[in-house]
Amino acid sequence: MPRVKKASNAKQILELDQKVKRKPPQTLKGMRDILPSEQKYWDYVYTKLEELAEIYSFERIDTPILEKSSLFERSVGKDTDIVSKEMYTFSGYGKKKITLRPEMTASIVRAYIEHGMSNVPQPVKLYYEGPVFRHEKPQSGRYRQFHQGGFEVIGENSVAVDVQLILMGYKFFKNLKLDVSVHINSIGCPDCRNEYVKALKKYYKPLKSKLCKTCKDRFNKNPLRLLDCKEKKCQEYQDEAPKFMDHLDEACSFQFNKVLEYLDELKIPYKLNHKMVRGLDYYTRTVFEFVLESKKHKRQNAIAAGGRYDLLVEQLGGKATPAAGFAIGIERVILALKEIEFEPKDEKKIDIFIAQIGDVARRKAMVLFEKLRKKRLKVSENFAKDSLKAQLDYANKEGIRYVLILGQQEVKDKTIIVRDMEGGVQETLKMKGISKELKKMIKKNKKKK
Ligand code: HAM
Repeated sequence: MPRVKKASNAKQILELDQKVKRKPPQTLKGMRDILPSEQKYWDYVYTKLEELAEIYSFERIDTPILEKSSLFERSVGKDTDIVSKEMYTFSGYGKKKITLRPEMTASIVRAYIEHGMSNVPQPVKLYYEGPVFRHEKPQSGRYRQFHQGGFEVIGENSVAVDVQLILMGYKFFKNLKLDVSVHINSIGCPDCRNEYVKALKKYYKPLKSKLCKTCKDRFNKNPLRLLDCKEKKCQEYQDEAPKFMDHLDEACSFQFNKVLEYLDELKIPYKLNHKMVRGLDYYTRTVFEFVLESKKHKRQNAIAAGGRYDLLVEQLGGKATPAAGFAIGIERVILALKEIEFEPKDEKKIDIFIAQIGDVARRKAMVLFEKLRKKRLKVSENFAKDSLKAQLDYANKEGIRYVLILGQQEVKDKTIIVRDMEGGVQETLKMKGISKELKKMIKKNKKKK
């Protein structure tokens, strides 16, 4: 930018900014800051996710945010909305194009193959959490950078895996007191899919001129997606469209019925949703989504989704290996928790504030701060302030329950004033054993709550 080039120092840049009234920078559309006040929701959801991983013996994996674009083209599929329209792809860093991951299953499978995980006892059970990027039209619950937490089981064909994944998701949401239902379908193996696509095209052919522009395109490129178009005029035809379940071959039909039998046995309520085909090409057989049911949730209500992807490992160059998994949309979970007015306890909430008057007391207060922190008490301070009133105001605004006040007299007497900010009562205690006393007070309070 020539304008900035001309300005060779900070002062000149500032002057130029003021001249052209340049606005302060803002986040990109569809991307959000997660502010300190929000963090307790994130901590809460991630803790629950990690607990689930531990209960069901999933091991943590982290993969890079950037991958070769070809990974997603070969797995999610070139003609899907995600790959054809929504990926953040860059070139110019070498010959290969690179992409900010739009989902994580492909990366997990890449890692499984790259690190020879087929040589360890199967199945390999992995979980992950982190940001993903899709250049979609932003709206409530739909972002361009969002976070997923997911579980993948690689190397096992049994329907028990499909069912256990659904059970895990169901328990996760139940535990969070979110009212979700499981939508389930089977999209068979490639053989049944060919048969089904033929039937679907036969049904849609006479209707083609009445469909939206995108669906006309889907008719040729990705006919399965005709079933989840959200345009009203296209939805009219979806109910009457042939159902995948009626076109499954014997093996796929047997597998799907087994999954449903298990779900019945485990009393997990589900809805057969023949329109659900998922927007990623790698799925085979069972696919499912967790959908928020209550009217309190007014928007994007698919809160988690997944399914079986038995061909993906081979498709990406590994040995033929069955697999299944699902991913939870963390932002959507947090929005839903807020909609039911759930507020997690702030585990990092500060209990104690140390106030000091005068230089001698300040030095002692700094030593005390370190001691209390070592004893794992949640303490805060504002040692830069001199006025006691300013320090008390600060503690008050932060909602801190106990303020320790240390002045010259207290230093001399080896005592400290403990002020309970809720009732305004204060007492002078001996400095020796202060951490024990504070722990007792905090414990007593927690019990009362
Ligand atoms: P997905 O359905 O594309 O599946 O995404 C999973 C979840 O991520 C969705 O159910 C939703 O909660 C959340 N999500 C998707 N797009 C957005 C968005 N733009 N903003 C906010 N949240 C969003 C997958 O990504 C598969 N990899 C899931 C999977 C794992 N299949 C097998 N293993």
